[in-house]
Amino acid sequence: MKRLLLITGFVFYLLNPGFAQNYNPLQIPDTLVGPTFELNMIDTFRQFFPGQQTITSGFNGNWWGPTLIMQKGESVQMYVHNHLNDSTTVHWHGLHLPAVMDGGPHQIIPPGTTWSPYWKVDNAAATYFYHPHLHEMTEKQLVHGLGGFLIVRDSAEAALKLPRTYGVDDIPLAITDRKFTSDNQFRYTDAHYGDTVIVNGVMNASATLPAQVVRFRLLNVAQERAYLIGLSDNRNFWVIGGDGGLLDTPVVMNRLLMGVAERYEILVDLTGMEGKELKLMAFNASLETDVNGSEPVNTPAPFGNKLGRRNFMILHFKIAAKTNNPVTNIPSQLIPNTQLDTADVVKQRQVVLGDEPNQNIFNVRSWLDGRFFKFDRIDHYVPLDNTEIWAIKDESAGSHPFHIHDVQFRIVDINGAPPPAHRAGWKDVVYVRRNTTVRFITKFSDFADTIKPFMYHCHILFHEDEGMMAQFLVVPPGFQIPADSTSAVISPVQNTNYPIEVFPNPASSVLFFKGPQDAGMYYADVFNELGYNVLRVPGPDAENGINISFLPQGTYFIRFTDQKKRMYIAQFLKLSRE
Ligand code: C2O
Ligand code: CU
Ligand code: CU
Repeated sequence: MKRLLLITGFVFYLLNPGFAQNYNPLQIPDTLVGPTFELNMIDTFRQFFPGQQTITSGFNGNWWGPTLIMQKGESVQMYVHNHLNDSTTVHWHGLHLPAVMDGGPHQIIPPGTTWSPYWKVDNAAATYFYHPHLHEMTEKQLVHGLGGFLIVRDSAEAALKLPRTYGVDDIPLAITDRKFTSDNQFRYTDAHYGDTVIVNGVMNASATLPAQVVRFRLLNVAQERAYLIGLSDNRNFWVIGGDGGLLDTPVVMNRLLMGVAERYEILVDLTGMEGKELKLMAFNASLETDVNGSEPVNTPAPFGNKLGRRNFMILHFKIAAKTNNPVTNIPSQLIPNTQLDTADVVKQRQVVLGDEPNQNIFNVRSWLDGRFFKFDRIDHYVPLDNTEIWAIKDESAGSHPFHIHDVQFRIVDINGAPPPAHRAGWKDVVYVRRNTTVRFITKFSDFADTIKPFMYHCHILFHEDEGMMAQFLVVPPGFQIPADSTSAVISPVQNTNYPIEVFPNPASSVLFFKGPQDAGMYYADVFNELGYNVLRVPGPDAENGINISFLPQGTYFIRFTDQKKRMYIAQFLKLSRE
């Protein structure tokens, strides 16, 4: 059915010159179902423009990967093969699973290797996604096209009369934008806003939709921009769910602000519209000035971009005949969600979103609680089964989409006022506006681990890469939380010998190092002779020796980065096992 939609769209594209000039058929990602999933990450290219192709990366293809369909309660086994030239990680955004399976910056997949996490799906039916999360490389790897949807289904959702024929009346839309160089390559180190909207990998996308109630699964996967979603004729739509599940009842709206990494599912009623056209829009000309993307077009680099403070089209659609068994009503009830009780809260924490002082406005680096991410610092210890309130307080010059791993939360209040109805459901990202404090309530159940942390961070990609990120451990009963838990380190500082020394050299299986550790080790990176990062090990893990047994025989460079971002390079020879 999905293929048919594509082919129909394509034939229409060929037959209608007016259409062909303006629109390209929307692509719907293929689906994969479990219980085992094979993902192949590859470096490849894609024809975005006539002429030079664009270098991209993808899961099982040359852009945004397949949609993984999972059933709540099912045990899934993933095989993630890294055929990229660089190391990576793959994070299952929004899912509740053990920290070692989470795919955050600690679960590194060197090139040429396979990562095989598994878990029992515990989340409610909703739209999640997966994406690389290698620290300092997240923006680069997402910009090149790595990511995909992950849809969880469950019996409560299945019992409702909602559109759920994938690609027909249930349409996933991964919305992003990119800036290109004159030779059609991505610009991202000096530009975090695009000039061109890309939806499921297609620019100027158009879909053919049936004249009935249609569900969009909206995901903002921009580098930085927020989108103020609406329809071109200003008609109402209904928000039925968010990041982590359906709402109690649909919420009627006609404008919906989405920060990076937020998901909303909406229903649009196209009944009686056969033969007509409509557009899904970003009404970004009316963004308030703290919102990412409100900078006018002529703002100097790196913020200026062709979509800045403008209204622009996300998706064009043409409305065709209805399907055989159409949904024609907006349900009045969805699912009865149970609230967490503030009476059960045993701990309140605060996280301050801020900017490093004394920086010029075009070179500002943002951080959390006045410090940047450190691999070997645990920022919070959360006792297992705690119900907590976290207050996220913005003191920066802008607004930030705050995301926490492991849990789904409910917003308690925003500057003391209850959240609007469409943001009152389960969420894992909250767009925290300038000078506001958002408090959320959540419960940290199931996955205690005294070594492997979960992350929380701003989801603006270059903010997290720059270190607007921190981590927490969920610890089991009886665990001794260090007294100064805000500055505790996993591994003690030991040795001040310089320069770096690696041994044995040559090595065949495990490589050890001496110094420099006075500032604490951050990363060990191994590069091959072509300069590709074939292995990255976080400092604390590297202290126990670096497994190089899988590397082909040859000469390598190993680079140690300490917490002060000083780098030390050594060379070693890898021999194959005798
Ligand atoms: Cu979308 Cu830390 O992740
Ligand atoms: Cu996440
Ligand atoms: Cu940010």
